[in-house]
Amino acid sequence: MDGFAISRVVQLLSILLACVDIGHSAPLLRRTPTGHDVQVLILGGGVSGIIAARSLHQKGIQNFLIVEAREELGGRMRSFTFGAPGRQVTLEIGCNWIQGTQLDDGPINPIFDLARKHNLSATPTDGHESMTTFDDGGSVDYLDIFYKAGDAYINGTIAAGARVNKTLVDTTARTGSSLVGWKPMTPHEMASEYYHFDWEYAQTPEQSSWIASSWGNNYTYEVTQGGFSDSNLMSIDQRGFKHIIQAEAAEFLTDEQVMLNATVKSIKYSKIGASVTLVDGTTMTADYVISTFSLGVLQQDDVVFEPALPEWKVEAIQSMTMGTYTKIFLQFPEKFWFDTQFALYADKERGRYPIWQGMDLEGFFPGSGVIFVTVTGDYSERIEALEDDQVQDEVMGVLRSMYPNVTIPDPVAFHFNRWHTDPLYRGSYSNWPPSLFVDHHTNLRATVEERLWFTGEATSQKYFGFLHGAYYEGEATGDTVAKCIQDQGCAGRPHVEEIKNARPYGLKP
Ligand SMILES: Cc1cc2nc3c(=O)[nH]c(=O)nc-3n(C[C@H](O)[C@H](O)[C@H](O)COP(=O)(O)OP(=O)(O)OC[C@H]3O[C@@H](n4cnc5c(N)ncnc54)[C@H](O)[C@@H]3O)c2cc1C
Ligand SMILES: *[C@@H]1O[C@H](CO)[C@@H](O)[C@H](O)[C@H]1NC(C)=O
Ligand SMILES: *[C@@H]1O[C@H](CO)[C@@H](O)[C@H](O)[C@H]1NC(C)=O
Ligand SMILES: *[C@@H]1O[C@H](CO)[C@@H](O)[C@H](O)[C@H]1NC(C)=O
Ligand SMILES: *[C@@H]1O[C@H](CO)[C@@H](O)[C@H](O)[C@H]1NC(C)=O
Ligand SMILES: *[C@@H]1O[C@H](CO)[C@@H](O)[C@H](O)[C@H]1NC(C)=O
Ligand SMILES: *[C@@H]1O[C@H](CO)[C@@H](O)[C@H](O)[C@H]1NC(C)=O
Repeated sequence: MDGFAISRVVQLLSILLACVDIGHSAPLLRRTPTGHDVQVLILGGGVSGIIAARSLHQKGIQNFLIVEAREELGGRMRSFTFGAPGRQVTLEIGCNWIQGTQLDDGPINPIFDLARKHNLSATPTDGHESMTTFDDGGSVDYLDIFYKAGDAYINGTIAAGARVNKTLVDTTARTGSSLVGWKPMTPHEMASEYYHFDWEYAQTPEQSSWIASSWGNNYTYEVTQGGFSDSNLMSIDQRGFKHIIQAEAAEFLTDEQVMLNATVKSIKYSKIGASVTLVDGTTMTADYVISTFSLGVLQQDDVVFEPALPEWKVEAIQSMTMGTYTKIFLQFPEKFWFDTQFALYADKERGRYPIWQGMDLEGFFPGSGVIFVTVTGDYSERIEALEDDQVQDEVMGVLRSMYPNVTIPDPVAFHFNRWHTDPLYRGSYSNWPPSLFVDHHTNLRATVEERLWFTGEATSQKYFGFLHGAYYEGEATGDTVAKCIQDQGCAGRPHVEEIKNARPYGLKP
């Protein structure tokens, strides 16, 4: 036995031992002709990783391994059981909606296809059809302002399109809204705007690109622009929304192709291959690595790359942003609130506990006593730093100001998830800031040294942030890597070495 073979035996033994130690499902690594453990390591078992694996599988490549830190597949498709004993429901702490469905002739959201295939239970939701408005004085009707804010938002997407046609520069979505004459000042206007903007992008108009947010809206919701439709379906499935991706995975993945409870610590790469080391010390080598880590994970260096990623890649990673979207769930002995699907609460402070959804409703969970409120962006980061009790007190204060004449008891159950501080996510989904150039985005998606590939919701130019973005990107990456393997190598996705547009001041004094 030569040294290399011995080291491989030691490595395999250590993998087997590691499996015994921490309970990985034992992967059956089949050495490749190039001497690597496996042809493709897919890092992360969310929608992108699973669909990338399915593409490889469909193209006849079975020698891959999905490495996932959590104890199940699904990633940000994540359900949990909520409620007092005897009154529990399965709810979603991560994604909840199929956004943009389509039953006519146009393109169909692939997540909607999966939902139909795997029989997901879901209910249509629509704030425009079913909304009650409040402020800190209680119930007050400002639906006129709410609809006006919606019109102003659409006007902004139209004006952004006209800018693109004239190749005018991008600005913040705030600048855009001001330019179309929407300048929210009152709490009612701010809350109404929040529903149409922040609740979608998980960041403020100031933090977001005007053009990219308009494209984001159009490509998913605007049928005339190639979008699916403006309807949304909210999963109420008691198997969890994740069921659709786990059931899809179960159709083609074998036990040997998945390693759970396995957290990646570092990735070494070169033009001839890559090796991935887990926190427990296990190392595996591969011809190709597909990273599906969230943008936030890449930004925070939760996984170390050796050598360090090239400057153009680092700049791309740090140029996009990760928003946070936080659902705060409460259960009460009984329902005392609005009968609409949604309520909007206008606080003097923008973004303070603004959007409420009652689940104790036909089509959702009647009799459950469950209601939840959503916060986003900086406000999410703020509450993640507080104790649960403090957040509960604030939320109860808001609810009591919405219902000044009702004696509201404390909730019997309370829960929210801290996405921003979770080292496996570092936020909820990506958002496109006004300073991000299209070339940056190309670089986020580009291959490094022909062997290291990047995919996930954030690499989707049309659908960043969405489940269908993760799906399409996983599919495209799986297909491209499969072709690369079949061609015995490829250059990978190209990048732009330097992105330029700065000009010194005072060239013409
Ligand atoms: C609160 C919230 C609400 C949302 N709402 C919606 C919605 O309603 N509709 C919609 O379309 N989209 C929504 N999204 C976005 C959607 O969930 C994501 O776009 C999509 O799930 C991302 O899939 P992905 O495969 O790109 O990434 P992920 O699902 O994040 O997959 C990456 C995987 O990598 C794993 N991982 C991370 N670090 C490591 C490591 N070091 N080692 C090993 N594994 C690691 C993670 O555990 C994860 O499973 C929401 C997201 C959140 C969080
Ligand atoms: C992963 O870890 C969890 C919790 O420690 C354990 O219950 C589960 O059996 C493990 N799963 C696998 C596939 O090793
Ligand atoms: C889907 O649901 C319908 C109605 O509940 C049921 O008849 C059917 O068997 C289900 N199909 C699958 C694949 O679960
Ligand atoms: C949107 O644009 C239309 C057409 O220009 C205009 O009539 C309408 O007042 C605008 N709406 C808002 C809220 O600015
Ligand atoms: C978005 O769609 C509208 C039609 O609703 C269109 O006028 C506009 O040009 C589109 N915006 C962009 C940025 O493409
Ligand atoms: C932009 O230009 C395209 C192609 O020239 C045209 O089809 C479209 O209508 C224009 N859109 C706007 C908003 O001016
Ligand atoms: C609450 O009670 C006061 C005094 O009885 C009344 O004026 C007010 O309209 C009530 N508010 C609501 C929201 O019912």
